[in-house]
Amino acid sequence: MEPIIIVHGGAGDIPQSRVKGKLDGMKVAVTAGHECLMKGGSALDAVEAAVMTMEEDENFNAGYGSVLTLRGEVEMEASIMRGSDLNTGGVTLVKEFLHPISIAHKVLTDSPHSLLGGEGAKIFALEKGFKTIPSESLISEHAKKALQHFLEHGEFGRTEIGPKDEGGVGTVGAVAIDRNGHIAAATSTGGMSGKAVGRIGDTPQIGSGTYADDHIGAVSTTGHGESILRYCLAHSIIKLMESGKDAQTATTIAVNGMTARLKNTAGAITLSKNGDVGIHFSSKRMSWAYVKDGHIFYGINPDEVLKEEYNPGNNC
Ligand code: GLY
Repeated sequence: MEPIIIVHGGAGDIPQSRVKGKLDGMKVAVTAGHECLMKGGSALDAVEAAVMTMEEDENFNAGYGSVLTLRGEVEMEASIMRGSDLNTGGVTLVKEFLHPISIAHKVLTDSPHSLLGGEGAKIFALEKGFKTIPSESLISEHAKKALQHFLEHGEFGRTEIGPKDEGGVGTVGAVAIDRNGHIAAATSTGGMSGKAVGRIGDTPQIGSGTYADDHIGAVSTTGHGESILRYCLAHSIIKLMESGKDAQTATTIAVNGMTARLKNTAGAITLSKNGDVGIHFSSKRMSWAYVKDGHIFYGINPDEVLKEEYNPGNNC
């Protein structure tokens, strides 16, 4: 089967000043994941590789560039799922690591548990050889400004808090199918600007932020965490596909359904087990990209599909 990967860089009211950085980051991420798949890498390794590039890029709300709690600190979350056996790994309330998605992957492969948080996640990561970094080194100027803006004008619970919310959008994710037809999904985030210390959102919660099942497909979501988890958005899309809807229809129905019911916005990327693509967002913008037929397809505005030649890198 032809391998495929889709990435997203977060849904929200993304200001024009951040569009180019996000689209550039999409191309880097999808290339990293696709290159991994073309070398025979697993879907699980490919989604991790793609998400890692975005965790290093301050244009996204994950890893370096994560948004800040009310106390001005990062508290990051991530999850990853393998569709062959429905195994999952997740971390939450992580502060001193650049790549929460890699720790989540280790939870999947090396832990009897599915989700580790805070001090426990740190102990596990250190045991597995991950190195800590000062958590302040993960804080970008954009994230500081976003918190300041939130403190002056924000209302927690709104994803669209105005064009000055420069760091408040950009949860990242990827879904992939490898040569063997195996499916995986991964999602990583800093959460929402101005969140309470200890707040846990949708991203590390399987069925809300992430889902993958070789028998159906894979989903990664982004947007207003409390709404996404109330609606079990990722699993809602999976169930619609299971009942016969194609990936695009299922994604559109579920994202719009969540927004109609809960009055907050979201976005999702979806792959069916056959490699059909679904991309939809109810927010003003969401960056996304995938590779097909020697081209990268990408976009950030509603109904926008940009296309350019694909130049693979060397990232896996
Ligand atoms: N969707 C990311 C968050 O709300 O935490």
